[in-house]
Amino acid sequence: MKGLILSGGKGTRLRPITHTGAKQLIPIANRPILFYAIDALAQAGVDDVGIIIGETGPEVRDAVGDGSRFGVRVTYIEQDAPLGLAHAVRTARDFLGDDRFVMYLGDNLIADGIVPLVREFEGSAAEAMILLASVPEPQRFGVAELREGRVVRLVEKPPVPPSDLALVGVYLFSSSVFDAIDRIEPSARGELEITDAIQRLIDDGRDVVPHIITGWWKDTGHLGDLLEANRMLLDTLEPRCDGRVGEDVRMDGKVVVEAGAELRNCVVRGPAIIGKRTTIDNAYVGPFTSIYYDCAIRNAELENSIVLEKTRIHDVTGKIDGSLIGKECLVSTSPLRPKAVRLMLGDHSRVEL
Ligand code: TTP
Repeated sequence: MKGLILSGGKGTRLRPITHTGAKQLIPIANRPILFYAIDALAQAGVDDVGIIIGETGPEVRDAVGDGSRFGVRVTYIEQDAPLGLAHAVRTARDFLGDDRFVMYLGDNLIADGIVPLVREFEGSAAEAMILLASVPEPQRFGVAELREGRVVRLVEKPPVPPSDLALVGVYLFSSSVFDAIDRIEPSARGELEITDAIQRLIDDGRDVVPHIITGWWKDTGHLGDLLEANRMLLDTLEPRCDGRVGEDVRMDGKVVVEAGAELRNCVVRGPAIIGKRTTIDNAYVGPFTSIYYDCAIRNAELENSIVLEKTRIHDVTGKIDGSLIGKECLVSTSPLRPKAVRLMLGDHSRVEL
C-alpha cells in the first residue's frame, strides 16, 4: 500500500498567507499541518509516500526532507498546475503503479488517524473506500448517498442533501481509479474532480465502500477552521517547560514552553504553546494561542490566535483575538503624530479594527 499526500493547490481562501507560503505548512499547535498527515500514514504502516507539490514545492521539500524523521520514504511529484484532486492523482500515476493507495489531502486533520480504515481496505476486495463523517450542515460539503452498505451517489454541495454524510479528505483506491480519471471531463470550475472519478467507478458497477468516522476531523481551508483545529490540538498537549520562565510569570492550565523561549512578567493561560527562542515580555497570552519560533511579544495581549515565525508584536493596545499572523510581521503602535493607523498589507490581507 502506498500513500499520496496532496500538498499543491492554490489556497485562495487563505490569502495572503498562501501568497508566500504553503498552507499545508501553517503550524497547528506549532507543527505544520502536513506533518500530521505524514504521521497518520506512518502509523498506518504506509511508508512509501508520494507528496504532490506545486508552486510552494521548494518550501515543502525543505520542511519534510526525505521523510526519514517520520519513518517514511518520500517521493516528490510535481503537478504543473493545480487542476484538481483527480488531476493530482493522475500526475502520480508512475509513482503509484498498480499498488492500492491512500490519498490524503495535506490540509486535513483527522484526530484518530487512519489505521482502522487502511486495515479494512487492505483486507477487502473493494475498488475504493471513502471516508465519511456526519455533519450538521451537509450542504457545505461533498455528500454521499448510501444504499445497503455501498456508496451509490456523490453530490457536491447539494441544496437538498441526500444524507448528512460529508466526504472527509482521505480516500483509498485501487489502480482502477486511473481509468475512471481518464474518462472524466473538467468541472464547471475547470478542475478534474475526484468526486466525478469516484462517481464514474460507481456507475461502472465497481465496489465503492464507505467508512464512517465518529472522531474529530477538520479541513483547514479557512481561517476559522485553522483556529478551530488549533484549539482542538492545543487541548491535547501535555504541559512542558523547556524554556526560561521568570518568577513574575503566571502560567495557568496546559502551557508548553519550547526550548530557548524566555518569558518575563506575563500571564499565559493555556492551552497555549510558546515556540523555540520566542520571547514574551510584559504580556498576556490567552487560551488557544500558538506562537511559533523566534517571535517577540512585548506590551501586548493576544488569545485564540496563531502567530507564525519571526513575528514581532509590541505596544499594542486592545487584545488581538481570532487572528492568523504571518511570518516576519510587525504589529505595533506608532509613536508618530498624527495618531493614526498606518498599514502596509500584502494583497488580499484582511484587517478588522
Ligand atoms: P483544496 O483546499 O480543495 O484547494 P486549494 O488548495 O486550491 O484551496 P482553495 O480552494 O482555497 O483555493 O485542496 C485540497 C488539498 O489538495 C490541499 O492540500 C491542496 C491540494 N491540491 C493539490 O495538491 N492539487 C490540486 O490541483 C488541488 C486543487 C488541490
